[in-house]
Amino acid sequence: KRPPASILFIFGGSGDLNYRKLTPALYNLFLDEWMPEHFAIVGIGRTEYSNENYRSHLQEGITKFSRRKAEANGHYKEFFDHVNYLQLDAGDVKSYQRIAEYVQTKEKEWGTHPNVIFYLAVAPQLVPSIAQELGTLNLCKDKSTTRIVIEKPFGHDLASAHELNDLLSGLFAEEQIFRIDHYLGKETVQNILALRFANALFEPVWNRHYIDHIQITAAESVGLEGRGGYYEHSGALRDMVQNHILQLMCMVAMEAPVSFDANEIRNKKVDVLNAIRPIKKEDVHESAVRGQYGAGWMKGKQVTGYREEKGVDPVSNTETYAAVKFYVDNWRWQGVPFYVRTGKLMHQKSTHITIQFKDAPTFAFPSEAAESWRSNRLTISIQPEMDIRIRFQAKRPGQTMTLDPVNMTFNYEGSDDHTPEAYETLLLDVMEGDATLFMRADQVEAAWKVIMPILETWENRTPQDFPNYVPDSWGPEDADALIARDGHSWINLP
Ligand code: BG6
Repeated sequence: KRPPASILFIFGGSGDLNYRKLTPALYNLFLDEWMPEHFAIVGIGRTEYSNENYRSHLQEGITKFSRRKAEANGHYKEFFDHVNYLQLDAGDVKSYQRIAEYVQTKEKEWGTHPNVIFYLAVAPQLVPSIAQELGTLNLCKDKSTTRIVIEKPFGHDLASAHELNDLLSGLFAEEQIFRIDHYLGKETVQNILALRFANALFEPVWNRHYIDHIQITAAESVGLEGRGGYYEHSGALRDMVQNHILQLMCMVAMEAPVSFDANEIRNKKVDVLNAIRPIKKEDVHESAVRGQYGAGWMKGKQVTGYREEKGVDPVSNTETYAAVKFYVDNWRWQGVPFYVRTGKLMHQKSTHITIQFKDAPTFAFPSEAAESWRSNRLTISIQPEMDIRIRFQAKRPGQTMTLDPVNMTFNYEGSDDHTPEAYETLLLDVMEGDATLFMRADQVEAAWKVIMPILETWENRTPQDFPNYVPDSWGPEDADALIARDGHSWINLP
């Protein structure tokens, strides 16, 4: 069923996110017949564009970044008939009147009261003032049909996130606010819920009695991609751990929801965040490792070091790699370490979660039968592979009792161009008013709370060894030492 009539105003309409992600996602929804019968997309920006130029600019973005290429041609006109550009200065109060007028015109034309969605794909410092202006518009008073979508980063630390939540909650009801974490829209991430809560097979072993430890890796092979100005004030902990990685951790560690109600799922996730053992500042060096890449080579190409990137301080303290060991202090997870790591310019792009089970209680086979009997492992690959693997021991065919670890794999067939992109799922959910995959105010703050001691410790201490890893590697040696202290090693997928 298609969502109700909707108007999407995209602040930052001439920006990169809209060009690379939002418009291609909306176009794919259109091709898949998920867009409402009546819809309008209005890009808002300061750059000067005629409607025609704006549309051809975005069309170029679709040809470059849409998951679907070949069969997509030929539907541009039908789609772009719904797309317009409003050149507005978001700082000018009068501008907002034009938005209200636009809505009235569409309402008359369609004969129905549409959803009005404001997507703020703008620099974080612009969010408060735009939200303030929108909040005073009459059309935002309708809580069931007006929505505001906020991109990350949501705040810069706990205090600023709290302040932003305060401001937003004074202007909108919580159900009108959609805070995006695009990882939650990924098909493979949503599948974690299916794996865990639609199968009785895994639940009995999904706890501290059977699980030795859990690893979450979000390795990126890309570097800054021209975002030095932003990244220098963010760093890996803020950019990836506070949001994406902690959300993955919630999906793996949460208790079973009693329904798929948005608040029920979010309650169960926030319980995990609240149960994460606070890391004391004096213990940060034992539980967390930071890294920064230097100059080097990446797949045969020379790359500059982080400190030489545009927009970056030549003596920068910002981490491009972070690894942390967390504990979740509840009945299910007591004593089970969660090792998480993320970094830029790593050897390969790979986001995966590994559940390492405990060893078999005794090993009756001759010791030469197996190299290691620590084999029971379940791996959920989020990207670029999209599969779930269970690793177990099997007998090698032949006359001797020799064991090898083997994999049983479920793979999303055909993958790529048939699998919706995260932003498609999330934009559709916004139009439908389903907030399940979005961050609630308390979740965002709970996640900040988890990382604040690490952030503050790192910000106040200049590392002596930066840069401490080379491009095309798996990060700093200290990160290997972090996990080796517990007798484990990082699991890199082949
Ligand atoms: C964004 C970060 O939120 O996620 C980027 O700001 C990062 O630095 C990106 O590259 C990774 O997303 P994905 O979907 O490519 O894993």
